[in-house]
Amino acid sequence: MSGRIYIFDTTLRDGEQSPGASMNTNEKLRLATQLERLGVDIIEAGFPAASQGDFDAVSRIAGRLERTRVAGLCRAGKNDIDKAWGAIQHARFPRIHTFIATSDIHLEYKLRMNREEVVQAAVDAVKYAKSFTDDVEFSAEDGSRSDRDFLCRIFGAAIEAGATTVNLPDTVGYAIPEEFADMVRYVMSNTPNMHKAVLSVHCHNDLGLATANTLAAINAGARQAEVTINGIGERAGNTSLEEVVMAVHTRPNSISATTNINTRQIYSASRLVSMITGIIVQPNKAIVGANAFAHEAGIHQDGVLKNPMTYEIMKPEDVGVNTNKLVLGKHSGRHALKDRLRELGYELSEDELQQVFMKFKELADKKKHVMDEDLEALVTEGILRTPDLIRLEYLHVAAGTSVMPMASVSLRIGEESVRGADWGNGPIDSTFNTIARLTGTESRLLRFTVSALTDGADAQGEVVVRLKEGDRIALGKGADPDIITASAKAYINGLNRLKYLRDNPVEKGRDTI
Ligand code: KIV
Ligand code: ZN
Repeated sequence: MSGRIYIFDTTLRDGEQSPGASMNTNEKLRLATQLERLGVDIIEAGFPAASQGDFDAVSRIAGRLERTRVAGLCRAGKNDIDKAWGAIQHARFPRIHTFIATSDIHLEYKLRMNREEVVQAAVDAVKYAKSFTDDVEFSAEDGSRSDRDFLCRIFGAAIEAGATTVNLPDTVGYAIPEEFADMVRYVMSNTPNMHKAVLSVHCHNDLGLATANTLAAINAGARQAEVTINGIGERAGNTSLEEVVMAVHTRPNSISATTNINTRQIYSASRLVSMITGIIVQPNKAIVGANAFAHEAGIHQDGVLKNPMTYEIMKPEDVGVNTNKLVLGKHSGRHALKDRLRELGYELSEDELQQVFMKFKELADKKKHVMDEDLEALVTEGILRTPDLIRLEYLHVAAGTSVMPMASVSLRIGEESVRGADWGNGPIDSTFNTIARLTGTESRLLRFTVSALTDGADAQGEVVVRLKEGDRIALGKGADPDIITASAKAYINGLNRLKYLRDNPVEKGRDTI
């Protein structure tokens, strides 16, 4: 089989379901713009019925994108479909994506419905969605654990009702490649009118097989792959966009398919998702990990110097890893900064540029070479995060071998400026204690990690914290040449995200996905 594969990116919906990965509307808009640059065919922008925040973000994205289809997810019910349509109606190419579970276990214990009722609900949902737009996708949740003939029946009914895409999800990441491919072939051959719709697959990575299953499905005839950047998503995550795309690109004889992806935008998209969500990419992650193109063994290095193809099956430049980075320094002007930011995908207004330029100058005074990663951190912290309720105004820390660690902190909380000081086990502990007292947070710090944003002894420290408040979890991220300041920024970012989650409660039932 050969042909064009549609890349359906669900980083903003399933990806955002990664624990702690909530993004604000500015961040989502920026990511949606990068996904459009990357060339994905469909962006699932969110689940509008889940919360007001999701609804607003989806409608802003729908109004912004020019070339890409924008999908809104909804359960198979009128209220959800109304919300999805309300949010995507201004998109140039809107898609309603409705779903209901089809496996016996979901029918019996979760939905408490029989098969007839589920088929009827799917048909009603597709017909209702079709009254708003021609582009309707129907998903059979837990499809991979569903009875094959029932799947064919419900897909056939959905197509007859007007679905233009039917999606077979491996919701719990249970499938094995050969078996999943066989299921795809069965569905392709036995679903009435299958030729009138695109068959899509949506895999989760619980057994580490999401990419393998997706590729097997493509070879068996699936024409849409649902994926996320860096493979983020519910539990162990979703199929990773970069892995599927680069496998298709690198092995054309084994996977005869093409995509519309501009592979040179992959690395920027990966960095952006990591910066925005705070989910760090593991160093050995395929395609986008820090070690993906690093050769440690002498024999390998020798081979690569003689001919890169001895040990490299892809070129770093193919995925946008820039080996010859352009660096900026303290003599670089606004123009150079603007150009570089534009190349990195940031179109800033004059005011925003001025804000970043001032921060850039401060940074360039402390750090000789300002790299792309530093610029990205300046923009994500300075522009995308606003308006944050809590902001750091001032931090002074005393610590060392012969002093009791103490931090003095000034925060702006809304319109008010508050100050305080506290002790702790070390400089970071005392900073966190002070911030916790000033904000009155009841959250617990679950994890704290610090790493270097770039190479070199003057690199900025990048801190990620994981905070828990009740049953909410938020990640916070901060970068600064001083790691205590980076830690304070990360902690404050985590607190702001917890507030966002409090203000945008997820409606009951969202966790049925
Ligand atoms: O995993 C899943 O089944 C989903 C559906 C809503 C497509 O995310
Ligand atoms: Zn999913």
